[in-house]
Amino acid sequence: MERTFVLVKPDGVQRGLIGEVIVRLERRGLRLAGAKFMWVSQELAETHYAIHKGKPFYNSLIEYITAAPVMAMVWEGPNAVAAVRQTMGATKPTDAAPGSVRHDYGLEIGRNLTHASDSVENGQKETALWFKDEQLIDWKREIDTWVFEG
Ligand code: RTP
Ligand code: MG
Repeated sequence: MERTFVLVKPDGVQRGLIGEVIVRLERRGLRLAGAKFMWVSQELAETHYAIHKGKPFYNSLIEYITAAPVMAMVWEGPNAVAAVRQTMGATKPTDAAPGSVRHDYGLEIGRNLTHASDSVENGQKETALWFKDEQLIDWKREIDTWVFEG
């Protein structure tokens, strides 16, 4: 089953939107595979956002992601990566589709509430970076056959 890594970023946590993000992913039919509420260390922030090192927004991005606790999660399902990116909306909230989290709750790119892996490969890499194997839950739901066709 495809897995993707999701963060409710510090602004989402401070604004009381953890539940709002979870309810949208649950309603979509995705299945939760792991979750932890945590502070992000400087080191983890730098590893997670290594691809953006050197960009003009890098320092403020690291500051942002370490400024308050985050809700780190792994969600699974068919096309989980694409589905979650769509539910979160485009990076810049004013470009995000109406009905997406970033559209409905955000205004600024540097306060865009959530992170979601951008490819299947990064979904796997980020899941491994943030979660130990034993923190990921293997389970099935009674409704799975009514949500997952395969
Ligand atoms: P994310 O990684 O957080 O899910 O966001 P994303 O894929 O939609 O966007 P990405 O290009 O990976 O950028 C990571 C985060 O950096 C901040 N950002 N600021 N000021 C800027 O131009 C700028 N560009 C990106 C955003 O918080 C973005 O989510
Ligand atoms: Mg990204």
